[in-house]
Amino acid sequence: MYKIGLIPGDGIGPEVTREAMKVFGAAAAQEGIKYETVEYDVGGDRYLATGEVLPDSVLEELRGLDAIYLGAIGHPDVKPGILEKGILLKVRFELDLYINLRPVKLYPGVPTPLKDKGPEDIDFIIVRENTEGLYSGIGGFLKRGTRDEVAIQEMINTYKGVERCVRYAYELTRKRNKTNTLTSCDKANVLTYAHDLWRRVFDEVGEDYPDIKKEYAIVDATTMWMVKNPEWFDVIVTCNMFGDIITDLGAMIQGGMGVAASGNLNPESTAMFEPIHGSAPRYTGKNQINPIAAVGAAGMMLDHLGHADAAAKVEKSISDLLASGKIKDLGAGRMGYTTEEVGDLIAEGL
Ligand code: IPM
Ligand code: MN
Repeated sequence: MYKIGLIPGDGIGPEVTREAMKVFGAAAAQEGIKYETVEYDVGGDRYLATGEVLPDSVLEELRGLDAIYLGAIGHPDVKPGILEKGILLKVRFELDLYINLRPVKLYPGVPTPLKDKGPEDIDFIIVRENTEGLYSGIGGFLKRGTRDEVAIQEMINTYKGVERCVRYAYELTRKRNKTNTLTSCDKANVLTYAHDLWRRVFDEVGEDYPDIKKEYAIVDATTMWMVKNPEWFDVIVTCNMFGDIITDLGAMIQGGMGVAASGNLNPESTAMFEPIHGSAPRYTGKNQINPIAAVGAAGMMLDHLGHADAAAKVEKSISDLLASGKIKDLGAGRMGYTTEEVGDLIAEGL
């Protein structure tokens, strides 16, 4: 019996969470997977009402769960940064969810802005380090608010942190068995300390994986190749900041925020799954937002829990629906179906 925590969150978060868990439930029933859910009222509304962002008691409960599903965080009346840092980043850091897994896969029938590229060209996975780098929050101000102000934000790389991340990426590349190529996306030519360590660890761990081809791509060139030759990539491993940036580019080439899913994992303990998109406040409650990314994240949750077959079914149902051409446009309000109907179609497709 799995215990799954739900953080529907803000804006359209609750709507997409409902559809994601509808499909999750349907797949679980087919496979005889038993689970119970616990819902947490966390997000902008709670913060505005009580001043609480993520109470310690909730954080402690989250630690004990098999998985967490998060809809979206972000509220127009809350200053940017409070909820992002206080909820999303806090859960990633406190639960030590050191892998952020972001597949970049163009489904058949989905338009990509890349000319002459199709589903056979755009199918790779980005493994983003999720607990260190420029996100560590170490730094400070000196003489803040004066013309002599100094602001420092440190990029932290630890041997342990890089090692476990690249090892995960090597293992994933092997398991995926596509072209057996792992690309390190870094800036070793300029970040001659932080990414020197990164590269050395990438090479050192790579000795345990003689079957995996190693490639190096400097981050700026990576963005160029993701557009020009996305077919070159199989698995990309990268630091937190670069991973943040290149996965938005990845989401766009796979058809947009309507389809991009992600998982924050600690392979040894719990994990949190979420669509990459935000809370899209202006669509709140309209039943118009595309839930496919959210459903995809629920599929990833099944995979993480060890149910690869169920996960594959969810992915196939999404893929079949998109290939059918029924959904005319992936954008909110332009799908020709409601959020709920798209969830139903995917659930039926299982
Ligand atoms: C993401 C988001 C977050 C990040 C923000 C909301 C803190 O952009 O998940 O990519 O920067 O990691
Ligand atoms: Mn981001």
